[in-house]
Amino acid sequence: MPLNGNSLIPSAIVKYLDRYIVGQDRAKRAVAVALRNRMRRRLLEPELAREISPKNILMVGPTGVGKTEIARRLAELVNAPFVKVEATKFTEVGYVGRDVESMIRDLVEMSIQMVRKKMLEDVQEPAMEKARERVIDFLVPSRKPQGGGIPTFMSVMKGLSGDQQDAEPETPEEDRMRESTRSKLMDLLAQGKLDDREVEIEVQESHQLGIPMMGGMGMDEMGMNIGEMLGGLMPKKKKRRTMKVKDALRVLQGEEAEKLIDGEAATRLGLEKAQEEGIVFIDEIDKIVSKGSSGGHDVSRDGVQRDLLPVVEGCTVQTKHGQVSTDHILFIAAGAFHQTKPSDLVPELQGRFPIRVELEPLDKGQLSRILTEPHHSLLQQYEALLGTEKVKLVFTDDGVDEIASLAERMNAEMENIGARRLHTMIEQLLEEISFSAPERQGETLTLDRSMVQDKLGPLVKDSDVRRYLL
Ligand SMILES: Nc1ncnc2c1ncn2[C@@H]1O[C@H](COP(=O)(O)OP(=O)(O)OP(=O)(O)O)[C@@H](O)[C@H]1O
Ligand SMILES: [Mg+2]
Repeated sequence: MPLNGNSLIPSAIVKYLDRYIVGQDRAKRAVAVALRNRMRRRLLEPELAREISPKNILMVGPTGVGKTEIARRLAELVNAPFVKVEATKFTEVGYVGRDVESMIRDLVEMSIQMVRKKMLEDVQEPAMEKARERVIDFLVPSRKPQGGGIPTFMSVMKGLSGDQQDAEPETPEEDRMRESTRSKLMDLLAQGKLDDREVEIEVQESHQLGIPMMGGMGMDEMGMNIGEMLGGLMPKKKKRRTMKVKDALRVLQGEEAEKLIDGEAATRLGLEKAQEEGIVFIDEIDKIVSKGSSGGHDVSRDGVQRDLLPVVEGCTVQTKHGQVSTDHILFIAAGAFHQTKPSDLVPELQGRFPIRVELEPLDKGQLSRILTEPHHSLLQQYEALLGTEKVKLVFTDDGVDEIASLAERMNAEMENIGARRLHTMIEQLLEEISFSAPERQGETLTLDRSMVQDKLGPLVKDSDVRRYLL
Protein backbone atom coordinates (compact mmCIF):
# COMPACT_ATOMS: atom_id res chain seq x y z
CA MET A 1 0.00 0.00 0.00
CA PRO A 2 1.94 3.00 -1.20
CA LEU A 3 1.82 6.01 1.05
CA ASN A 4 1.11 9.29 -0.58
CA GLY A 5 3.43 12.26 -0.48
CA ASN A 6 2.50 13.77 2.82
CA SER A 7 2.33 10.66 4.88
CA LEU A 8 5.75 9.61 3.66
CA ILE A 9 7.47 10.88 6.75
CA PRO A 10 10.62 9.11 7.92
CA SER A 11 8.98 7.35 10.83
CA ALA A 12 6.24 6.03 8.56
CA ILE A 13 8.78 4.75 6.06
CA VAL A 14 10.68 2.97 8.81
CA LYS A 15 7.46 1.53 10.15
CA TYR A 16 6.55 0.22 6.75
CA LEU A 17 9.97 -1.36 6.32
CA ASP A 18 9.64 -2.87 9.79
CA ARG A 19 6.76 -4.93 8.57
CA TYR A 20 9.07 -6.84 6.26
CA ILE A 21 12.59 -6.46 7.54
CA VAL A 22 13.81 -7.38 10.97
CA GLY A 23 16.41 -5.10 12.56
CA GLN A 24 18.78 -3.04 10.38
CA ASP A 25 17.44 0.13 11.90
CA ARG A 26 20.26 2.35 10.75
CA ALA A 27 19.81 1.43 7.14
CA LYS A 28 16.09 1.97 7.36
CA ARG A 29 16.55 5.38 8.90
CA ALA A 30 19.06 6.41 6.28
CA VAL A 31 16.84 5.57 3.35
CA ALA A 32 13.88 7.20 5.07
CA VAL A 33 15.77 10.43 5.54
CA ALA A 34 17.08 10.40 1.98
CA LEU A 35 13.56 10.01 0.64
CA ARG A 36 12.24 12.78 2.82
CA ASN A 37 15.03 15.09 1.76
CA ARG A 38 14.04 14.78 -1.84
CA MET A 39 10.55 15.81 -1.01
CA ARG A 40 11.86 18.73 1.00
CA ARG A 41 13.99 19.82 -1.90
CA ARG A 42 11.06 19.94 -4.23
CA LEU A 43 9.34 22.46 -2.02
CA LEU A 44 12.19 24.93 -2.38
CA GLU A 45 12.54 27.64 -4.96
CA PRO A 46 13.98 26.28 -8.17
CA GLU A 47 17.16 28.26 -7.80
CA LEU A 48 18.06 26.76 -4.46
CA ALA A 49 16.64 23.36 -5.32
CA ARG A 50 18.99 23.10 -8.24
CA GLU A 51 21.96 23.38 -5.91
CA ILE A 52 20.94 20.56 -3.64
CA SER A 53 22.12 17.21 -4.81
CA PRO A 54 20.73 14.02 -3.35
CA LYS A 55 22.70 12.35 -0.61
CA ASN A 56 23.42 9.01 -2.08
CA ILE A 57 23.63 6.02 0.21
CA LEU A 58 26.04 3.13 0.36
CA MET A 59 24.75 0.11 2.27
CA VAL A 60 27.46 -2.22 3.45
CA GLY A 61 26.84 -5.51 5.14
CA PRO A 62 27.36 -9.24 4.89
CA THR A 63 25.37 -11.34 2.51
CA GLY A 64 21.76 -12.22 3.24
CA VAL A 65 21.00 -9.60 5.87
CA GLY A 66 18.42 -7.56 4.01
CA LYS A 67 20.16 -5.11 1.68
CA THR A 68 18.31 -6.11 -1.43
CA GLU A 69 15.17 -6.68 0.57
CA ILE A 70 15.17 -3.09 1.78
CA ALA A 71 15.49 -1.87 -1.79
CA ARG A 72 12.69 -4.12 -2.94
CA ARG A 73 10.29 -2.96 -0.26
CA LEU A 74 11.23 0.63 -0.83
CA ALA A 75 10.32 0.29 -4.45
CA GLU A 76 6.85 -0.89 -3.52
CA LEU A 77 6.40 1.88 -1.02
CA VAL A 78 7.48 4.97 -2.85
CA ASN A 79 5.39 6.02 -5.71
CA ALA A 80 8.52 6.99 -7.55
CA PRO A 81 10.23 5.50 -10.56
CA PHE A 82 12.64 2.97 -9.20
CA VAL A 83 15.04 0.60 -10.88
CA LYS A 84 17.32 -1.94 -9.35
CA VAL A 85 20.37 -2.99 -11.27
CA GLU A 86 23.25 -5.29 -10.58
CA ALA A 87 26.55 -3.54 -11.01
CA THR A 88 28.01 -6.74 -12.40
CA LYS A 89 25.79 -6.44 -15.45
CA PHE A 90 27.72 -3.49 -16.67
CA THR A 91 30.94 -3.46 -18.45
CA GLU A 92 32.99 -0.62 -19.64
CA VAL A 93 31.96 1.00 -22.89
CA GLY A 94 33.53 -1.04 -25.63
CA TYR A 95 33.43 -4.28 -23.70
CA VAL A 96 30.59 -6.73 -24.03
CA GLY A 97 27.63 -6.14 -21.77
CA ARG A 98 25.31 -3.31 -20.95
CA ASP A 99 26.55 0.20 -20.73
CA VAL A 100 26.04 2.10 -17.54
CA GLU A 101 23.71 4.68 -19.01
CA SER A 102 21.19 1.97 -19.80
CA MET A 103 20.05 2.08 -16.18
CA ILE A 104 18.93 5.65 -16.66
CA ARG A 105 17.10 4.66 -19.80
CA ASP A 106 15.37 1.89 -17.89
CA LEU A 107 14.41 4.41 -15.24
CA VAL A 108 12.90 6.72 -17.83
CA GLU A 109 11.02 3.85 -19.39
CA MET A 110 9.70 2.85 -16.00
CA SER A 111 8.73 6.39 -15.21
CA ILE A 112 6.81 6.88 -18.44
CA GLN A 113 5.02 3.61 -17.84
CA MET A 114 3.99 4.81 -14.41
CA VAL A 115 2.62 8.04 -15.79
CA ARG A 116 0.81 6.23 -18.59
CA LYS A 117 -0.63 3.70 -16.22
CA LYS A 118 -2.02 6.46 -14.05
CA MET A 119 -3.44 8.22 -17.09
CA LEU A 120 -5.00 5.01 -18.35
CA GLU A 121 -6.60 4.37 -14.98
CA ASP A 122 -8.15 7.80 -15.09
CA VAL A 123 -9.87 7.18 -18.41
CA GLN A 124 -11.17 3.69 -17.73
CA GLU A 125 -14.74 4.93 -17.28
CA PRO A 126 -15.10 6.89 -20.51
CA ALA A 127 -13.18 4.18 -22.32
CA MET A 128 -15.71 1.62 -21.17
CA GLU A 129 -18.53 3.83 -22.46
CA LYS A 130 -16.91 3.88 -25.84
CA ALA A 131 -16.21 0.18 -25.74
CA ARG A 132 -19.88 -0.52 -25.12
CA GLU A 133 -20.82 1.70 -28.04
CA ARG A 134 -18.47 -0.24 -30.23
CA VAL A 135 -19.72 -3.62 -29.12
CA ILE A 136 -23.22 -2.47 -29.96
CA ASP A 137 -22.03 -1.26 -33.33
CA PHE A 138 -20.90 -4.79 -34.01
CA LEU A 139 -24.13 -6.26 -32.73
CA VAL A 140 -26.36 -3.79 -34.55
CA PRO A 141 -24.52 -2.43 -37.58
CA SER A 142 -25.79 1.05 -38.26
CA ARG A 143 -26.61 0.21 -41.86
CA LYS A 144 -26.42 -3.24 -43.28
CA PRO A 145 -23.92 -3.05 -46.12
CA GLN A 146 -25.70 -5.25 -48.64
CA GLY A 147 -29.36 -5.38 -47.92
CA GLY A 148 -30.72 -6.95 -44.85
CA GLY A 149 -33.20 -5.01 -42.84
CA ILE A 150 -32.56 -3.50 -39.52
CA PRO A 151 -32.25 -6.24 -37.01
CA THR A 152 -34.92 -6.00 -34.42
CA PHE A 153 -34.17 -6.30 -30.78
CA MET A 154 -35.56 -9.81 -30.68
CA SER A 155 -33.60 -11.04 -33.64
CA VAL A 156 -30.37 -9.71 -32.24
CA MET A 157 -31.12 -11.45 -29.00
CA LYS A 158 -31.58 -14.71 -30.82
CA GLY A 159 -28.30 -14.17 -32.54
CA LEU A 160 -29.96 -14.06 -35.95
CA SER A 161 -29.52 -11.37 -38.45
CA GLY A 162 -32.55 -9.41 -39.58
CA ASP A 163 -34.95 -10.45 -42.29
CA GLN A 164 -33.30 -10.60 -45.62
CA GLN A 165 -34.79 -7.78 -47.56
CA ASP A 166 -33.56 -5.61 -50.30
CA ALA A 167 -31.66 -2.51 -49.36
CA GLU A 168 -33.93 0.41 -48.94
CA PRO A 169 -33.32 3.84 -47.58
CA GLU A 170 -34.09 3.88 -43.93
CA THR A 171 -37.32 5.29 -42.85
CA PRO A 172 -37.61 7.36 -39.69
CA GLU A 173 -39.57 4.42 -38.37
CA GLU A 174 -36.60 2.11 -38.83
CA ASP A 175 -34.32 4.69 -37.32
CA ARG A 176 -36.37 4.75 -34.19
CA MET A 177 -36.41 0.99 -34.04
CA ARG A 178 -32.68 0.81 -34.17
CA GLU A 179 -32.30 3.45 -31.57
CA SER A 180 -34.55 1.61 -29.20
CA THR A 181 -32.75 -1.65 -29.92
CA ARG A 182 -29.45 0.03 -29.17
CA SER A 183 -30.57 1.56 -25.95
CA LYS A 184 -32.02 -1.70 -24.71
CA LEU A 185 -28.80 -3.48 -25.59
CA MET A 186 -26.85 -0.73 -23.86
CA ASP A 187 -28.72 -1.39 -20.65
CA LEU A 188 -28.20 -5.12 -20.89
CA LEU A 189 -24.51 -4.60 -21.60
CA ALA A 190 -24.07 -2.32 -18.65
CA GLN A 191 -25.76 -4.86 -16.43
CA GLY A 192 -23.45 -7.56 -17.69
CA LYS A 193 -26.33 -9.62 -19.05
CA LEU A 194 -24.75 -10.10 -22.43
CA ASP A 195 -21.34 -11.04 -21.02
CA ASP A 196 -21.35 -14.61 -22.23
CA ARG A 197 -22.74 -14.03 -25.69
CA GLU A 198 -20.37 -14.19 -28.61
CA VAL A 199 -19.68 -11.24 -30.80
CA GLU A 200 -17.40 -10.72 -33.75
CA ILE A 201 -15.40 -7.57 -33.40
CA GLU A 202 -12.57 -5.86 -35.19
CA VAL A 203 -9.47 -5.38 -33.09
CA GLN A 204 -6.14 -3.84 -33.76
CA GLU A 205 -3.45 -6.39 -34.11
CA SER A 206 -1.17 -5.30 -31.39
CA HIS A 207 2.55 -5.68 -31.23
CA GLN A 208 2.27 -4.84 -27.60
CA LEU A 209 -0.68 -6.40 -25.88
CA GLY A 210 -2.26 -4.21 -23.27
CA ILE A 211 0.49 -2.69 -21.22
CA PRO A 212 3.54 -2.28 -23.44
CA MET A 213 6.58 -4.30 -22.58
CA MET A 214 9.29 -2.74 -20.51
CA GLY A 215 12.17 -1.50 -22.51
CA GLY A 216 15.72 -2.47 -21.83
CA MET A 217 15.91 -6.15 -22.44
CA GLY A 218 18.68 -7.18 -24.69
CA MET A 219 18.67 -4.74 -27.57
CA ASP A 220 19.03 -1.71 -25.45
CA GLU A 221 22.24 -0.12 -26.54
CA MET A 222 20.44 2.71 -28.23
CA GLY A 223 17.42 2.46 -26.00
CA MET A 224 15.56 1.26 -29.05
CA ASN A 225 13.39 -1.68 -29.60
CA ILE A 226 13.16 -3.04 -33.10
CA GLY A 227 9.62 -4.29 -32.72
CA GLU A 228 8.46 -0.91 -31.56
CA MET A 229 10.25 0.87 -34.36
CA LEU A 230 8.75 -1.35 -37.01
CA GLY A 231 5.41 -1.22 -35.26
CA GLY A 232 5.40 2.51 -35.57
CA LEU A 233 6.14 2.35 -39.28
CA MET A 234 3.64 -0.24 -40.33
CA PRO A 235 0.00 0.67 -40.49
CA LYS A 236 -1.91 -0.93 -37.66
CA LYS A 237 -3.59 -4.03 -38.97
CA LYS A 238 -7.14 -4.81 -38.06
CA LYS A 239 -8.29 -8.28 -37.45
CA ARG A 240 -11.74 -9.76 -36.95
CA ARG A 241 -12.10 -11.97 -33.95
CA THR A 242 -15.01 -13.68 -32.33
CA MET A 243 -15.12 -13.61 -28.60
CA LYS A 244 -17.37 -13.36 -25.61
CA VAL A 245 -18.91 -9.96 -25.07
CA LYS A 246 -17.15 -9.50 -21.75
CA ASP A 247 -13.77 -10.15 -23.34
CA ALA A 248 -14.60 -7.89 -26.24
CA LEU A 249 -15.43 -5.10 -23.83
CA ARG A 250 -12.12 -5.52 -22.09
CA VAL A 251 -10.15 -5.49 -25.32
CA LEU A 252 -12.01 -2.52 -26.74
CA GLN A 253 -11.78 -0.67 -23.46
CA GLY A 254 -8.02 -1.02 -23.66
CA GLU A 255 -7.97 0.29 -27.21
CA GLU A 256 -10.22 3.21 -26.40
CA ALA A 257 -8.25 4.13 -23.29
CA GLU A 258 -5.08 4.29 -25.37
CA LYS A 259 -6.80 6.71 -27.71
CA LEU A 260 -8.01 8.90 -24.88
CA ILE A 261 -4.66 9.60 -23.29
CA ASP A 262 -2.12 12.08 -24.50
CA GLY A 263 0.98 10.06 -25.27
CA GLU A 264 3.21 13.07 -25.64
CA ALA A 265 2.22 14.43 -22.29
CA ALA A 266 2.92 11.05 -20.74
CA THR A 267 6.41 11.07 -22.17
CA ARG A 268 7.09 14.60 -21.06
CA LEU A 269 5.80 14.01 -17.54
CA GLY A 270 7.59 10.70 -17.37
CA LEU A 271 10.92 12.27 -18.22
CA GLU A 272 10.37 14.93 -15.62
CA LYS A 273 9.36 12.43 -12.99
CA ALA A 274 12.43 10.29 -13.63
CA GLN A 275 14.63 13.33 -13.33
CA GLU A 276 13.11 14.67 -10.14
CA GLU A 277 12.00 11.59 -8.26
CA GLY A 278 13.92 8.70 -9.76
CA ILE A 279 15.74 6.24 -7.55
CA VAL A 280 18.38 3.87 -8.84
CA PHE A 281 19.47 1.02 -6.66
CA ILE A 282 22.84 -0.39 -7.63
CA ASP A 283 23.25 -3.78 -6.04
CA GLU A 284 26.47 -5.79 -5.75
CA ILE A 285 28.60 -2.70 -6.15
CA ASP A 286 31.45 -4.45 -4.33
CA LYS A 287 31.74 -6.81 -7.29
CA ILE A 288 33.11 -4.03 -9.47
CA VAL A 289 35.85 -3.22 -7.02
CA SER A 290 39.26 -4.47 -7.96
CA LYS A 291 41.22 -6.24 -5.30
CA GLY A 292 44.36 -4.17 -5.46
CA SER A 293 46.38 -6.53 -7.61
CA SER A 294 45.76 -5.70 -11.24
CA GLY A 295 44.48 -8.85 -12.84
CA GLY A 296 42.78 -8.95 -16.21
CA HIS A 297 39.27 -8.37 -14.91
CA ASP A 298 40.24 -5.46 -12.77
CA VAL A 299 40.86 -3.13 -15.65
CA SER A 300 37.30 -3.61 -16.71
CA ARG A 301 35.96 -3.23 -13.18
CA ASP A 302 37.68 0.07 -12.62
CA GLY A 303 36.38 1.04 -16.01
CA VAL A 304 32.81 0.40 -14.91
CA GLN A 305 33.37 2.50 -11.84
CA ARG A 306 34.69 5.31 -13.96
CA ASP A 307 31.72 5.02 -16.30
CA LEU A 308 29.44 5.08 -13.30
CA LEU A 309 30.98 8.26 -12.02
CA PRO A 310 29.47 10.85 -14.37
CA VAL A 311 26.07 9.21 -14.12
CA VAL A 312 26.09 9.35 -10.34
CA GLU A 313 27.68 12.76 -10.32
CA GLY A 314 25.10 14.24 -12.61
CA CYS A 315 25.20 14.24 -16.37
CA THR A 316 22.82 14.25 -19.26
CA VAL A 317 21.78 10.95 -20.72
CA GLN A 318 20.26 10.64 -24.15
CA THR A 319 17.22 8.41 -24.28
CA LYS A 320 14.87 7.74 -27.13
CA HIS A 321 12.32 9.95 -25.42
CA GLY A 322 14.65 12.86 -24.94
CA GLN A 323 17.40 13.99 -22.62
CA VAL A 324 17.42 13.38 -18.90
CA SER A 325 19.69 14.93 -16.39
CA THR A 326 20.81 12.64 -13.60
CA ASP A 327 21.60 15.51 -11.21
CA HIS A 328 18.77 14.79 -8.84
CA ILE A 329 18.32 11.09 -9.20
CA LEU A 330 18.93 9.31 -5.91
CA PHE A 331 21.41 6.46 -6.03
CA ILE A 332 21.52 3.79 -3.39
CA ALA A 333 24.32 1.31 -3.70
CA ALA A 334 24.77 -1.88 -1.75
CA GLY A 335 27.47 -4.45 -1.42
CA ALA A 336 28.74 -7.11 0.91
CA PHE A 337 32.35 -5.93 0.66
CA HIS A 338 33.69 -9.24 1.85
CA GLN A 339 37.14 -9.12 0.39
CA THR A 340 37.20 -5.43 -0.38
CA LYS A 341 36.33 -2.25 1.43
CA PRO A 342 34.34 0.76 0.35
CA SER A 343 37.65 2.61 0.39
CA ASP A 344 38.74 0.41 -2.52
CA LEU A 345 36.25 2.14 -4.76
CA VAL A 346 37.79 4.78 -6.95
CA PRO A 347 38.01 7.88 -4.76
CA GLU A 348 35.66 10.02 -6.80
CA LEU A 349 32.97 7.39 -6.51
CA GLN A 350 33.41 7.13 -2.76
CA GLY A 351 32.69 10.81 -2.57
CA ARG A 352 29.44 10.35 -4.41
CA PHE A 353 28.05 8.11 -1.68
CA PRO A 354 28.37 10.27 1.40
CA ILE A 355 25.95 8.32 3.56
CA ARG A 356 27.33 4.99 4.70
CA VAL A 357 25.22 2.56 6.58
CA GLU A 358 26.31 -0.76 7.90
CA LEU A 359 23.94 -3.64 8.16
CA GLU A 360 24.61 -6.01 10.98
CA PRO A 361 24.98 -9.76 10.78
CA LEU A 362 21.90 -11.56 12.04
CA ASP A 363 21.94 -13.31 15.40
CA LYS A 364 19.71 -16.08 16.60
CA GLY A 365 17.06 -13.75 17.98
CA GLN A 366 16.76 -11.93 14.69
CA LEU A 367 16.73 -15.14 12.69
CA SER A 368 13.84 -16.43 14.72
CA ARG A 369 11.96 -13.16 14.28
CA ILE A 370 12.57 -13.34 10.53
CA LEU A 371 10.89 -16.72 10.52
CA THR A 372 7.70 -15.45 12.06
CA GLU A 373 7.32 -11.68 12.17
CA PRO A 374 7.43 -10.20 8.68
CA HIS A 375 4.24 -9.96 6.68
CA HIS A 376 4.03 -13.18 4.74
CA SER A 377 6.96 -14.54 6.64
CA LEU A 378 8.75 -17.65 5.56
CA LEU A 379 6.75 -19.89 7.88
CA GLN A 380 3.47 -18.36 6.81
CA GLN A 381 4.40 -19.05 3.23
CA TYR A 382 4.91 -22.73 3.91
CA GLU A 383 1.76 -22.93 6.01
CA ALA A 384 -0.21 -21.43 3.15
CA LEU A 385 1.39 -23.70 0.53
CA LEU A 386 0.62 -26.84 2.47
CA GLY A 387 -2.75 -25.44 3.42
CA THR A 388 -3.75 -25.87 -0.21
CA GLU A 389 -3.31 -29.62 0.37
CA LYS A 390 -5.43 -29.39 3.50
CA VAL A 391 -2.43 -30.12 5.66
CA LYS A 392 -2.11 -27.88 8.66
CA LEU A 393 1.40 -26.95 9.75
CA VAL A 394 1.94 -25.72 13.26
CA PHE A 395 5.31 -24.36 14.30
CA THR A 396 5.66 -24.20 18.06
CA ASP A 397 7.75 -21.47 19.69
CA ASP A 398 10.44 -23.90 20.72
CA GLY A 399 10.44 -25.35 17.22
CA VAL A 400 11.07 -21.91 15.73
CA ASP A 401 13.73 -21.28 18.33
CA GLU A 402 15.45 -24.52 17.40
CA ILE A 403 15.44 -23.71 13.69
CA ALA A 404 16.95 -20.30 14.43
CA SER A 405 19.64 -21.67 16.67
CA LEU A 406 20.62 -24.36 14.19
CA ALA A 407 20.74 -21.69 11.48
CA GLU A 408 22.92 -19.50 13.64
CA ARG A 409 25.22 -22.42 14.31
CA MET A 410 25.49 -23.24 10.60
CA ASN A 411 26.24 -19.62 9.81
CA ALA A 412 28.97 -19.60 12.40
CA GLU A 413 30.53 -22.90 11.48
CA MET A 414 30.26 -22.60 7.74
CA GLU A 415 29.83 -19.52 5.63
CA ASN A 416 27.60 -16.81 7.06
CA ILE A 417 24.85 -16.45 4.52
CA GLY A 418 22.47 -14.65 6.83
CA ALA A 419 18.77 -15.24 6.50
CA ARG A 420 19.27 -17.25 3.34
CA ARG A 421 20.28 -20.11 5.63
CA LEU A 422 16.72 -20.26 6.85
CA HIS A 423 15.44 -21.01 3.38
CA THR A 424 17.66 -24.03 2.87
CA MET A 425 17.02 -25.35 6.36
CA ILE A 426 13.26 -25.14 6.09
CA GLU A 427 13.33 -26.83 2.74
CA GLN A 428 15.19 -29.72 4.34
CA LEU A 429 12.94 -29.71 7.34
CA LEU A 430 9.77 -29.93 5.29
CA GLU A 431 11.07 -32.00 2.44
CA GLU A 432 9.23 -35.14 3.40
CA ILE A 433 6.03 -33.33 4.29
CA SER A 434 6.05 -31.38 1.04
CA PHE A 435 6.36 -34.66 -0.83
CA SER A 436 3.67 -36.58 0.94
CA ALA A 437 1.21 -33.78 1.67
CA PRO A 438 -1.37 -34.76 -0.95
CA GLU A 439 -1.77 -38.13 0.80
CA ARG A 440 -2.06 -36.59 4.23
CA GLN A 441 -5.11 -34.42 3.82
CA GLY A 442 -6.73 -33.31 7.02
CA GLU A 443 -3.68 -33.94 9.18
CA THR A 444 -2.20 -31.41 11.54
CA LEU A 445 1.57 -31.57 11.72
CA THR A 446 3.25 -29.98 14.69
CA LEU A 447 6.86 -28.92 14.36
CA ASP A 448 8.31 -28.56 17.80
CA ARG A 449 11.86 -28.65 19.07
CA SER A 450 12.24 -32.40 19.10
CA MET A 451 10.75 -32.74 15.64
CA VAL A 452 13.17 -30.13 14.29
CA GLN A 453 16.07 -31.83 16.03
CA ASP A 454 15.04 -35.19 14.60
CA LYS A 455 14.96 -33.89 11.08
CA LEU A 456 17.84 -31.44 11.03
CA GLY A 457 20.08 -32.66 13.83
CA PRO A 458 21.70 -35.46 11.84
CA LEU A 459 22.34 -33.13 8.89
CA VAL A 460 23.85 -30.43 11.07
CA LYS A 461 26.17 -32.91 12.79
CA ASP A 462 27.44 -34.52 9.63
CA SER A 463 30.00 -32.09 8.33
CA ASP A 464 30.07 -33.70 4.89
CA VAL A 465 26.34 -33.78 4.34
CA ARG A 466 25.63 -30.31 5.59
CA ARG A 467 28.03 -28.78 3.18
CA TYR A 468 25.69 -29.81 0.42
CA LEU A 469 22.29 -29.69 1.98
CA LEU A 470 22.14 -26.81 4.39
N1 LIG B 1 16.67 -8.41 8.24
C1 LIG B 1 15.87 -9.21 7.54
N2 LIG B 1 14.55 -9.30 7.80
C2 LIG B 1 13.76 -10.11 7.08
N3 LIG B 1 14.17 -10.88 6.08
C3 LIG B 1 15.46 -10.85 5.76
C4 LIG B 1 16.38 -10.01 6.48
N4 LIG B 1 17.58 -10.18 5.95
C5 LIG B 1 17.44 -11.05 4.95
N5 LIG B 1 16.17 -11.48 4.84
C6 LIG B 1 15.69 -12.46 3.87
O1 LIG B 1 16.80 -13.18 3.37
C7 LIG B 1 16.85 -13.22 1.96
C8 LIG B 1 18.11 -12.60 1.42
O2 LIG B 1 18.19 -11.24 1.80
P1 LIG B 1 18.72 -10.10 0.81
O3 LIG B 1 18.43 -10.47 -0.58
O4 LIG B 1 18.23 -8.80 1.29
O5 LIG B 1 20.28 -10.21 1.06
P2 LIG B 1 21.42 -9.16 0.73
O6 LIG B 1 21.72 -8.42 1.99
O7 LIG B 1 21.04 -8.34 -0.43
O8 LIG B 1 22.64 -10.11 0.41
P3 LIG B 1 23.71 -10.09 -0.81
O9 LIG B 1 24.85 -9.27 -0.34
O10 LIG B 1 24.10 -11.52 -0.93
O11 LIG B 1 23.03 -9.57 -2.01
C9 LIG B 1 15.60 -12.54 1.50
O12 LIG B 1 14.68 -13.54 1.16
C10 LIG B 1 15.10 -11.76 2.69
O13 LIG B 1 13.71 -11.78 2.74
MG1 LIG C 1 21.57 -8.50 -2.46
